[in-house]
Amino acid sequence: MDYKNNYYFTILDRIESAERSAAKLILQAHGILAEAKNGIRNVVTEYDRLVQNLLMEQLGSTIPDARFFCEEMSRQDRPDAEHLFIIDPIDGTMNCVHGFHHSCISVAYAERGAVRVGAVYNPYVDEMFTAVAGHGAWLNGRPIHVADVGLSESIVCFGSSPYAPELADRTFYLARALFNAGLDIRREGSAALDLCYVAAGRAGLYFELQLSFWDYAAGALIVKEAGGQCCTIDGSCFPSDGSKTTILAGSPAAVVDFFRLTE
Ligand code: IPD
Repeated sequence: MDYKNNYYFTILDRIESAERSAAKLILQAHGILAEAKNGIRNVVTEYDRLVQNLLMEQLGSTIPDARFFCEEMSRQDRPDAEHLFIIDPIDGTMNCVHGFHHSCISVAYAERGAVRVGAVYNPYVDEMFTAVAGHGAWLNGRPIHVADVGLSESIVCFGSSPYAPELADRTFYLARALFNAGLDIRREGSAALDLCYVAAGRAGLYFELQLSFWDYAAGALIVKEAGGQCCTIDGSCFPSDGSKTTILAGSPAAVVDFFRLTE
């Protein structure tokens, strides 16, 4: 396969380059102020908008008839568009505001609802996680693979669904059960990076009870291309209308262990 002439690798190159340009905005920022979007936990910053605008401009010139499904848009385009970029300009906005340097830019490219390319970039540590459907997943250009271990040998990441406090009891109940069954648990504050950490074998399992399409579109592809499994918490496919969903990702063995534990 001549990767250089593969259409999806060209798109991946463009996404990576747009993300690296946009990341400079985040790294050069002095004091990122939060604006409440919907309550005190769901915040946005001017950098979310700046990064999103830059990505839309650069990616829109790559595919002029592309549509967009972005976190900071008032109305997203259809998830089944012919060409669609799914963008979370800053995943882990709360971390960014508090100087907790664990956030990323997440971009996926989909055709008629099928995600083909994903790139998640953490500018603080210069880690670029990428995947092209059917071709594999990489970290800074090197192939990655999920860990070859079950739950008992895994670090487990989870998200607290901070915008849906009614899910907190169930979330922490599950986290407690996974703490008992695994090695330890982590709540780092970026769903896209949690997924990439599973893909890279750093964590064996990740779950969250409510997540948006832009949070997981790129990361879910990266997990699958790294040999992992990614589905809803009851093992179904993700909704095709781009609506919020539960998510479970892990090595095949850890996912089997999760379902044994929760059945
Ligand atoms: C959030 C982060 C967080 C997760 C939330 C997401 P945002 O994304 O990924 O880890 O728990 O569910 O919404 O709002 O910072 O882009």
